Amino acid sequence: MSKLSIFQSDSSDRYESSIFETVNGEEIAERLSAKGVRFERWPLKTLADSDSAEAVLSVYEKEVRDLQSESGFVCADVVRLTPDHPDREAFRTKFLSEHQHVEDEVRFFVEGSGLFYLHFDEEVWVILCEQGDLISVPDGVKHWFDMGPKPLFTCIRLFSNPEGWVAEFTGDDIATRTPAWESLMNEGVRS
Ligand SMILES: [Fe+2]
Repeated sequence: MSKLSIFQSDSSDRYESSIFETVNGEEIAERLSAKGVRFERWPLKTLADSDSAEAVLSVYEKEVRDLQSESGFVCADVVRLTPDHPDREAFRTKFLSEHQHVEDEVRFFVEGSGLFYLHFDEEVWVILCEQGDLISVPDGVKHWFDMGPKPLFTCIRLFSNPEGWVAEFTGDDIATRTPAWESLMNEGVRS
């Protein structure tokens, strides 16, 4: 089940003390909305073939079209990673570095899960996104993503320009000072 956990920095700039946790979808959405982040749980649909981007986009065609008309994003694609992907370590490392974008980062989890980390001043908000979750991280919000050592997710991504959706890395190693996938998932985040 999706979950929001909020960590606060200590005197040595580590983000290990959890000050808030919830698995309540409405509460997650409300808290995130106050930060300008959109979060929704969508009803699941049956997918015959999650390998095929065309099949995924056609099953969620109406939802994608609605999102496009709301957000003005013209492009939609599908990204999928599986535990046996040969480049999974390199992909994980790349997205573990704190970065931001000049446009919103919109993801809908068709299957699987991942951890979004959002950095707000002295706090890091960790959102475990699971199948059926939509998240939209506003432009300019510093964030990173942990897919874990054995990634499994299929996500629909929306953006306005495939070439403009570029990560601006901050150079901050904050991800190394915040609990990673292994510790959060082993501590029962997946409750
Ligand atoms: Fe990003």
